[in-house]
Amino acid sequence: MLMDERRTPLVAGNWKMHKTVGEAVALAAALRERLDGAEGADVVLCPPFTALAAAGQALAGSRLALGAQDVHWEPQGAFTGAISAPMLLDLGCRYVIIGHSERRQYFGETDTTVARKVQAALGAGLAPIVCVGESWEQRQAGQTESLVRGQVAAALDGLDADQVAGLAIAYEPIWAIGTGRSATGKDAGEVAALIRETAGLMTAPTAAARLRVLYGGSVTPDNIAEFMEEPEIDGALVGGASLKADSFAAIVQAALAVKA
Ligand code: PGA
Repeated sequence: MLMDERRTPLVAGNWKMHKTVGEAVALAAALRERLDGAEGADVVLCPPFTALAAAGQALAGSRLALGAQDVHWEPQGAFTGAISAPMLLDLGCRYVIIGHSERRQYFGETDTTVARKVQAALGAGLAPIVCVGESWEQRQAGQTESLVRGQVAAALDGLDADQVAGLAIAYEPIWAIGTGRSATGKDAGEVAALIRETAGLMTAPTAAARLRVLYGGSVTPDNIAEFMEEPEIDGALVGGASLKADSFAAIVQAALAVKA
């Protein structure tokens, strides 16, 4: 068993394409008020690119960290519409979501581009939150394990042990995202275990033991404890319920209560 008690819980809010600058500042400020004292967890807010600077200012000096929802693999160049890792760092980002299923589904993200982005983010000093997960059809066909193992192997290809240890991998079954139909804690815990096992086979088991594995997909204040009770799950990537201060703060508090 590759358990490590020192893994700090990580709860990230993926705001997706929501919030104007003013709305983002208001939400960041409200969360700062509620969560700045939440010791023992890493709390990350991922606003849209347009609101990163202002949200970052609203969080400055707090325990809450800023993250982006995507990154390009090149540091600069002729890539119209894209944002690079140095640009995100410049805005105070510490984390970046990479390979979200919506990017894979709607924007042509592949395992290859995910790997390039992970390397670029790590090279620049950003902590990637890499998303993996199967569709409902793939789950029904019994392909969850092979698909997730393949996605993890592709994302970790070429990384050294320290880099793997600094990653978070979010298991997000596509059928659970935004549907109100979450996975069960047990099912998510099993996939989390195989994610860690796959990482351990690719690098040092000690690095895999430090890697944080999150669950994402219809996480709410009511079901977060079920996931956090799983020994291999270290936190959550939260979409819809991260858009309101009350529900996101309740998720963080409930997560901390389980892992404390
Ligand atoms: P959801 O989204 O919590 O709204 O299901 C999760 C995600 O897409 O990261």
